[in-house]
Amino acid sequence: MSHRTDLPKYRKAHKRQCRTESVGHRMKDRIVNIGIIGLGTVGTGVARVLLEQQRLLTARTNLTFRLKTISELNWDRERGLDLTGVRCTSDVNELLEDPEINIVVETIGGYEPAFTFISRALKNRKHVVTANKALIATRGAELFRVAQENHVDLLFEASVGGGIPIIKGLREGLIANHIEGIVGILNGTCNYILTKMHLEGLDFADALAQAQAKGFAEANPTLDVSGMDTCHKLAILGSIASNSLVPVENIYVEGITGITSEDIAFAKSFGFTVKLLAIYRARKEGLDLRVHPALVRNDHMLASVNNELNAIFVQGDFVGNTMFYGPGAGERPTASSIVGDIVDLSRDLLLQEGEKFCNRGISLSEAATLIPTEEVKNRFYLRFLTKDETGVLSMLSGALAEHGISISSMVQMETQEKNNCIPIVLLTHEASEKAMSEALRKIATFDFVVGECLRMRIFDTNP
Ligand code: HSE
Repeated sequence: MSHRTDLPKYRKAHKRQCRTESVGHRMKDRIVNIGIIGLGTVGTGVARVLLEQQRLLTARTNLTFRLKTISELNWDRERGLDLTGVRCTSDVNELLEDPEINIVVETIGGYEPAFTFISRALKNRKHVVTANKALIATRGAELFRVAQENHVDLLFEASVGGGIPIIKGLREGLIANHIEGIVGILNGTCNYILTKMHLEGLDFADALAQAQAKGFAEANPTLDVSGMDTCHKLAILGSIASNSLVPVENIYVEGITGITSEDIAFAKSFGFTVKLLAIYRARKEGLDLRVHPALVRNDHMLASVNNELNAIFVQGDFVGNTMFYGPGAGERPTASSIVGDIVDLSRDLLLQEGEKFCNRGISLSEAATLIPTEEVKNRFYLRFLTKDETGVLSMLSGALAEHGISISSMVQMETQEKNNCIPIVLLTHEASEKAMSEALRKIATFDFVVGECLRMRIFDTNP
């Protein structure tokens, strides 16, 4: 029998199967009942969108989105929300065990109890929406499995790029492409800090305090400034782009805490802006994935992405170069993405098509092959603090030359500050990470070198 003759029969059987494995809890009277866990910055935003945009959402979908229950431990804070008619509780069970609730939104962040709450919601056949990048990046595979076993879905648009629909962009709009490269500014807090240092000459601590006051930073801002938050987001994008599991621990990560206003000024004088970049490059040997600060040429689009704004530059084999740009953090943008996911899931509730979810999740069955960091090549910015002595420059350039590293520009400031120490800044041509680490190890042994060298990569080509 040919495949052709089998097809209608298969389709009928498949349709039947989809109906029996119906998704989640069925919707009644076109009302989608929603529960929110956590009423912090993001949860408040989601509640606000659901309350304020009710008519718009209904006009666009012909569905009613009803915020039924919110569970939160601290009800003292004033949030400027009218929650009349919404069940407000401190007991998450009232939401997780309520058979009427179709979609649970998790906005508490962190690993636990978020993991447990999401698992329970999925096992109770509720769809889940989350912005929890740390959890999706590290335990997403487990959660997607639970979702699949229970014929529900777990969406996470807001986990990367705040209000920018980059997840949908990658797995829907660009699905026909092999993704060759991604370069992203993915952390609003770091971008805000670096922008304030660049444009206003603020020091690191003051700029961080401002970012925290504006609600961009994580509860523990170390996650932001160490580059880990960006790393979580890169792992998510990398998994979607490569269709394989990208383990967070295999990504090279460097944060922005070692960068001084002096470095920002030097970078400026060479025609660069410093940005914390997430880089994904697909090569035939594997994936080159890293997070580190980099000098971006001022005429590159990423150089003018300022403040808390995020941008993701994506290169696909058919589409070519695309750039997604917008607010990467904050109450309203993050809530906008979360409600987008809610609406997306509601269409599924309406269609009751269990099979559809297979296309939405990330395929995490295969582990990604990563290129060892030491083999990756970059141009470098190096800043040394040295004693002002004869022969310093020749020793530095000699150590670099020994490792095959060629200098492209150099600045030495004539200053008597810092105990007769002077900063020397070198830009290099392309060199491997291995050669650079070895050269720097040698340089660190020289008596005239004071303190540690600051090394940043230069990003002056597309991925
Ligand atoms: N702390 C994150 C940032 C929030 O600053 O980008 C959004 O993920």
